[in-house]
Amino acid sequence: MAISRMLQIIIVIFLHYFSASILAANPTYNVFSYGAKADGKSDCTKAFQVAWDAACASVSPATIYVPQGRYILGNAYFDGSKCKNNATTIQIDGTLSAPTNYNVIGNSVHWLKFKRVTGVSIRGGTLDGQGTNLWACKASGKNCPKGATSLAFLNSDKISINGLTSINSQMFHIVVHGCRDAELQNIKISAPDESPNTDGIHIGRSSGVSITNSHIATGDDCIAVSPGTSNLFVQNVACGPGHGISIGSLGWVMDEAGVENVTVKSCVFSGTENGVRIKTWARPSNGFVRNVHYENLTMVNAENPIIIDQNYCPSNQNCPNQSSGVKISGVTYKDIHGTSATETGVNLKCSKSEPCTGIALDKIKLNYKNKTVDVVCGNTVQNMDGVIKPLRCLS
Ligand SMILES: *[C@@H]1O[C@H](CO)[C@@H](O)[C@H](O)[C@H]1NC(C)=O
Ligand SMILES: *[C@@H]1O[C@H](CO)[C@@H](O)[C@H](O)[C@H]1NC(C)=O
Ligand SMILES: *[C@@H]1O[C@H](CO)[C@@H](O)[C@H](O)[C@H]1NC(C)=O
Ligand SMILES: *[C@@H]1O[C@H](CO)[C@@H](O)[C@H](O)[C@H]1NC(C)=O
Repeated sequence: MAISRMLQIIIVIFLHYFSASILAANPTYNVFSYGAKADGKSDCTKAFQVAWDAACASVSPATIYVPQGRYILGNAYFDGSKCKNNATTIQIDGTLSAPTNYNVIGNSVHWLKFKRVTGVSIRGGTLDGQGTNLWACKASGKNCPKGATSLAFLNSDKISINGLTSINSQMFHIVVHGCRDAELQNIKISAPDESPNTDGIHIGRSSGVSITNSHIATGDDCIAVSPGTSNLFVQNVACGPGHGISIGSLGWVMDEAGVENVTVKSCVFSGTENGVRIKTWARPSNGFVRNVHYENLTMVNAENPIIIDQNYCPSNQNCPNQSSGVKISGVTYKDIHGTSATETGVNLKCSKSEPCTGIALDKIKLNYKNKTVDVVCGNTVQNMDGVIKPLRCLS
């Protein structure tokens, strides 16, 4: 008994030193060491940049540590093109806040920008874009800056964001563009229902992105998918308020990369403008959307639970052909249930020149005022099993 206890203690001590020596090889860069002050007043932009440069120059995996407190940052650019490691963790226990004067970051496209990084992970933390005053400016019709995206990952690989909260971005909250393999999980995003263009997560020209176990409440799309996105996986996302999960708008240009292999499952849409939408401009384009799978989605009073809109052309301007060239094929909707805030719960308005093919609706149980919703299918060629059953297309 006593001997086994001794052994235990020896093992514990051994593990302690062993793991400590591993940690010692992997340096930690505390932003305090670079002059950051968590006082909610001092400009910490430089300190964060210098901490990044130090971590980036480390040949072994590095950690940047941001202790509790509030840090004011202007535009920060974290360039990974010369980094000597491909495993940098940014552990954030505090809040990174934009300055209250929206002009400081409002004319740049991105507030916190990571470009050409590999293996960066962000753990925890809150980003506060301080968007309120900018939205008020926009609402008053004055001449205001366009606004910045709070966090952007551009041309980067192997990204992981876990446990991050983003509030009140000026424009989009998070953008992932030109990336391969990005895992976003346990993300919380919030901005008021009426805040303009505050999209939750924007994915474009990226492959292998997953978004799971997250909560997105905002004034625009919860998740927006732009051209050139493939192998996107979304699961367990609660969306609302917001405009839903949207592929599009696509097809603005003639030569456009397609969107393929998208799965959206086990999500809940509460009081959203749309549930799942595919939207294309009524313009000539070589773009496409194929192999999209929607499954186990709950609608709670969503205005357009299931919608394909290929006639997008606000004010009937810039649509020479009035028909979308984007080819939509292989889209399955399976087990979509709950309530619609409008009579037309399923609205498939496909292109006249490129009708949708391979659209399958299976186990759709959507009610509007206790009655099964209407299904409208324009230019939809139904050639998959179980199509529109037990629902019928009205047109
Ligand atoms: C889409 O999925 C198919 C089938 O799994 C695969 O063959 C194809 O390479 C994927 N597309 C992209 C762009 O990865
Ligand atoms: C369906 O989605 C809900 C979340 O809305 C989840 O709790 C449930 O486990 C999912 N069911 C299946 C079979 O995946
Ligand atoms: C315009 O649409 C017609 C079919 O409605 C199609 O035949 C034609 O190619 C389109 N033109 C362009 C420029 O896309
Ligand atoms: C739906 O039906 C239930 C009882 O069957 C009723 O209590 C409820 O008011 C109805 N809701 C609407 C919106 O009609």
